[in-house]
Amino acid sequence: MFRDQRLGEISQDVLDYLSSRAADVRIFEADLLVDKAHLIMLQEQGLISLEICSKIIAALDGLKISDLGEGEDVHEAIESYVLSRVGPEGGRMHTGRSRNDEVATCIRLALRSEMLDLMDELLSLVQTQVTLAEEHTDTIIPGFTHTQHAQPTTLAHHLLAHVDALLRDLERIEDAYKRVNLSPLGAAAFASTGFAIDRFRTCQLLGFDGLVENSMDAVSTRDFVLEALAALSILMIDLSRMAEELILWSTSEFGYLELDNLFASTSSIMPQKKNPDTAELARGKTGSVIGSLVSAMTICKALPLSYNRDLQEVTPHLWRGMDWARSTVRILDGCMSTLKFNTKEMEAASKAGFTTATELADSLVRSTGMPFRTAHRIVGRIAALGQRPNMTDLDRIALEIAGFRPSERGFCAEMLDLALDPRSNVALRANTGGPAPSVCKHMIERRYAQISGMAERLEKRRKQVETALLKLKEFSASLR
Ligand code: ARG
Repeated sequence: MFRDQRLGEISQDVLDYLSSRAADVRIFEADLLVDKAHLIMLQEQGLISLEICSKIIAALDGLKISDLGEGEDVHEAIESYVLSRVGPEGGRMHTGRSRNDEVATCIRLALRSEMLDLMDELLSLVQTQVTLAEEHTDTIIPGFTHTQHAQPTTLAHHLLAHVDALLRDLERIEDAYKRVNLSPLGAAAFASTGFAIDRFRTCQLLGFDGLVENSMDAVSTRDFVLEALAALSILMIDLSRMAEELILWSTSEFGYLELDNLFASTSSIMPQKKNPDTAELARGKTGSVIGSLVSAMTICKALPLSYNRDLQEVTPHLWRGMDWARSTVRILDGCMSTLKFNTKEMEAASKAGFTTATELADSLVRSTGMPFRTAHRIVGRIAALGQRPNMTDLDRIALEIAGFRPSERGFCAEMLDLALDPRSNVALRANTGGPAPSVCKHMIERRYAQISGMAERLEKRRKQVETALLKLKEFSASLR
C-alpha cells in the first residue's frame, strides 16, 4: 500500500471508506490497456528499458481481477501485483504518471465502449419503431392533448414522433462521445512531468481522437461524465414517455395494445392480472438515472482545481446511470417488437370525443369563407349537443351565430360527412410533418436514411477503436 511506509497503518473501516474497489471492476480492463500503452511509450522514449518493459507487460498479460490482492483502488492493486511478480523494477511502470491521469483515462476508455454499445442498442430500438410505423401508416388513432381526445392521427405519425426524439438522443450521445474520447494520459498528478513523455503516442495507442490538452484540466474535469449522464437522462425522459403510453394503452380503459407475456408480470394475489411491470420499471428507472446525474453534478460543483478525491464518488453514478439506460433501451425494444396493437379499438376510439370538430370548423371556413373564430363558436355549440351533427343543426346554429346558413353558401351534407370522417381528416393533413399516409411514408424513408447514416458513423468509430486496441495488443505481445 502506498501509505504504509510513511503514514502507518489505518483501520479497516477507514480503508473501506477510501476504497473504490467495488466500482473499479468497471475499469479493470481499461487499466490494463492504459498500463500497456504507457509502458510502450516510456520504452520508446528511452525512459525504461525494453527488458523491464517486457517483464511488466508479461506480468500484466492475462492478469485477471481475481488475481489482485489488497489496495485502495484497482490501480494500486495492479501495481502491487506487478511488483510482486517483477520485483522493485516493476515500480518503473508509474514513471511520469499519477493515478489522477490514470483513472481519468480509464473512465474515458470504459465509457466510450459503453457509449458505442448503447448507440447500437438505441439504433435497434429506433429501427423497431420505424418498422412498426411503416406497418401502420393507415392505422387511424385518436391523437391526444391534455390526455383528452383531440384530433385523429395515425399510429405511424405517433410512433415517428418518438422516433425523432430518440434520434435526437442518439445525436446527443454521439456528440458527447467526441468529448469523451480524448486522452488525459500524461497529465500526471496535474502539473505534467519532467520526464520526456509523448502524450500523442499514448493517445494514438489507445485509439483516442485527441488530447485533453491542459494537464490541470485533464485530471480535474468530469464534465464528460456529466455530459454523458445528461444525455442519458434526457434519453430516459423520452423513454419514460414511451413507457407511460405502453402502460396507459394496455389498460382495459384504452385497450389499444397488449404486451407480450415475456414483458408482463402477474399478481401474487389476483390470478387474472397481466401487469406492464417492465414498462413501469422503465418509467421508474428514469428517476434513478436523473438521480445519478444530479448526484454527479452535485459532487463536482465547487470543487477547486485540480484533482480531489471527491471525484472518485462520481464514477459509480456514471455506471449505474449507464446500466439503467442501456437495459431500459433493450427492454423497451423487446416490448415494442413483440406487442400487439389492437387497431380496431384504436380506429373506433378515434371517433369518440368529437375528434373531428377542428376539421368541421376548418371545412366551414374553406367552403363558406367565414372567419375561423366564428366557425369555432358554431362547432363548439354543436359539440354541446353531444350527438353526431346533421345539416339541420348546423344551419340552425350557424344562422344564430354567423347570420347565415352554411347550406346556402356551398356547404353540403357530403362535406359534413367528410369532415366527420377521421380517415379523411388524416388524409387532408398532408403538410410537411403531418399524419397523412403519403407524408408519413416520406418521413419513414428519410428516417431509414438517417438510421443508416448513424449506423455507418457508429461502425467507423467502433472500427477505429478496435483497430487501435488490436494494434496495441499485438504490439505489446511482440514486446514480451
Ligand atoms: N480511486 C481514485 C479515483 O477513482 C483514483 C485516483 C486516486 N488519486 C489520489 N490522488 N488519491 O479517483
